[in-house]
Amino acid sequence: MNEEYFQEKIDNEKKIEPKDWMPDDYRKHLIRQMSQHAHSEVIGMQPEGNWITRAPSLRAKMILLAKVQDEAGHGLYLYSATETLGISREELVQQLHSEKAKYSSIFNYPTLSWADMGAIGWLVDGAAIVNQVSLQRTSYGPYARAMIKICKEESFHQRQGYEIMAEMAKGTKEQKEMAQDALNRFWWPSIMMFGPQDSDSPRSGNAMKWKIKRQTNDELRQNFIDKTVAQAEVIGLTIPDPDLKWNEERGHYDFGEMDWDEFWNVVNGNGPCNKQRLAHHKKAHDEGEWVRKAAKEYAKKQELVN
Ligand code: 3HC
Repeated sequence: MNEEYFQEKIDNEKKIEPKDWMPDDYRKHLIRQMSQHAHSEVIGMQPEGNWITRAPSLRAKMILLAKVQDEAGHGLYLYSATETLGISREELVQQLHSEKAKYSSIFNYPTLSWADMGAIGWLVDGAAIVNQVSLQRTSYGPYARAMIKICKEESFHQRQGYEIMAEMAKGTKEQKEMAQDALNRFWWPSIMMFGPQDSDSPRSGNAMKWKIKRQTNDELRQNFIDKTVAQAEVIGLTIPDPDLKWNEERGHYDFGEMDWDEFWNVVNGNGPCNKQRLAHHKKAHDEGEWVRKAAKEYAKKQELVN
């Protein structure tokens, strides 16, 4: 009875709220996806954080600082939304540290130049926007509402990255080469953010049935590629895919074969920076222990006083 009633609500576009009955597998699926989304936001602060002290101007430093702070907020927002499903923050962090939980593969690549800040904002946040705009219609209420706030900030992230790339592309020969190099290194890992091909995506069946996902990995990837090609052309940069070609019949860009070995290699922990990202997170978490303790003690005292 519960299952049918639940699926009927989903089919009729009703949002599922924390106190509603839901199948255990729906709850587990959400905890997995939402917590990995949150982990991605927090780990994603590292590659960009590396460049805050090296920003080429005060304005650039202020913009990057604001963006990285936003990502921290997105992470906290998504952890809070995940906790409505009955799991603690400590447990979620433990799952990340024990590598039971994943985070987005894109953050396991190094950031080698200032142009990488442009490529990340333009491509990584650009891809995140495509994914997250779709997730605004996800069936779980707290997740859908979190996406609405996050998408507003994401568009600032994408614009500031695109502005960096546009400036450098019309700058000196060295600046244009630096921007093109960043695009060459971040293009394929950015389109891998959308996950494996639909035919190879074990989670998508339930995700689509329960309207956790509203579009498939391949649909979102195609949507991102179609909108990004023109952006590269406008600033005179070349997307590093010789097979990229507009297909009038399909109404989309055809693109080259993706390196799925590289994708699974990075997803399974063997990317260029996986070890470093996790070690950094663990160190920061340990160093923050005293803050968590003090906050808990203060909250306890407040309870006694009130
Ligand atoms: N990186 C790491 N793992 C990935 C991945 C990627 N790019 N793509 C897929 N995977 C993992 C999945 O988590 C799953 O593993 P699991 O079962 O252990 O969790 C496995 O590969 C199979 O993939 P599926 O397609 O079957 O899994 P999903 O249905 O969960 O789809 C997803 C993957 C498209 C990433 C989906 O989970 C999703 O939309 N998540 C929410 C968005 C998100 O997490 N974005 C991460 C980036 S956040 C960001 O960029 C912040 C921005 O501000 C910079």
